[in-house]
Amino acid sequence: MGLGATGMLGAIATRKSRNRLSHYLQAFQAQASDDPARSFAVDREMALGDRAAAKGLLYGAATQLHLLEENPEFADRFVQECKVLVTENDLNWREIRPAPSQFDFAVLDQLFDFTQAHNLLFRGHSLIWHLREILPPWLRDSLGPANAEWLLIDHVRTVVHRYAGQTHSWDVVNEAIDPSDGRADGLRDSLWLQALGPDYIDLAFRVAAETDPTAMLVYNDHGLVYDIPRHEARRTATLKLLERLQAQGTPVHALGIQSHLSAQGREFNPQKMRAFLRNVADLDLKILITELDVSDYELPTDLEVRDRLVAAAYEDYLSVVLDEPAVIAVINWGLSDPHSWLSWARPRSDEESSRPLPFDENLQPKLAWNAIARAFDNAPPR
Ligand code: XIL
Repeated sequence: MGLGATGMLGAIATRKSRNRLSHYLQAFQAQASDDPARSFAVDREMALGDRAAAKGLLYGAATQLHLLEENPEFADRFVQECKVLVTENDLNWREIRPAPSQFDFAVLDQLFDFTQAHNLLFRGHSLIWHLREILPPWLRDSLGPANAEWLLIDHVRTVVHRYAGQTHSWDVVNEAIDPSDGRADGLRDSLWLQALGPDYIDLAFRVAAETDPTAMLVYNDHGLVYDIPRHEARRTATLKLLERLQAQGTPVHALGIQSHLSAQGREFNPQKMRAFLRNVADLDLKILITELDVSDYELPTDLEVRDRLVAAAYEDYLSVVLDEPAVIAVINWGLSDPHSWLSWARPRSDEESSRPLPFDENLQPKLAWNAIARAFDNAPPR
């Protein structure tokens, strides 16, 4: 027997109040881990990009053309702080491939031109990614064994060729791993995999390398940071994939570790993280800290406490990962709070705006900025 409409609403209501309860509990625990005496003192003379460069590191952020165009002060800030620009959205298939045989580079070219005009490196995210939301409807409806190889090769070749010789790095394949799909190799049972088998990853890298031998080719994935079984399984699967790619001669040069952190960071285990980074480095790969932000989703409303906990998560994480010499870059996913995807992907239940990034809504640096600056200052030089 089903629950019936009333029963169902009741169940939802119970779930909601349970969620709210767990939210309060989280906020309470977070508050308890706050250390009001912790200092994030640092001078603010030097921008993050310059501080990173002083250590041989690269710092930058992801952004979108319309944000730079709509707000010249934001564009100025971006140029002051960053040395590399990553395409947050404008390179997605939905944006540049309106039809199977048609590309539209109008927006992407302007974003690229912005990097050239302001002496920023250009980093492309991402060439092959399964996520339905970023794919054009025609592709979602038609991708299959008959056309997938041609579409993949044509896409990677056309896009990489357009900026060849002028690209710092490509996220060639994004998020190909999901051990919970149950495959022995830990790969996600994505529409690319279904159409082409596991070798679609190798194919994408080979075409990218052939088209632009100068760009750094990156495999980028998430869920690799915490000491929880799901992340442990993802780390294992990632290493397995990278080993397999290396063994078959796939031109992969680096791992991008998406670092969507949680402000409590209770499950962060420095030893495990260091060991994972070392394992990747032992494969002769570089490591990029990509998509860095700290969700304040479950933190208390109080701004001072919230900003301090976010800053603590930044510094605790970066101080560990930057000890590994194979880590060569740190990239925020957005630069100022109101533009962060977390404001829509993880809205706060108190309806306050999220504060996951180094700059606030007035483009002023926050404690998170200090935390990143301190981590760069304390990092061993490359
Ligand atoms: C988010 C972006 O911020 C959006 O603008 C985009 O369209 C989709 O989602 N992992 C990724 C990013 O690799 O591309 C995602 O970005 C966040 C999760």
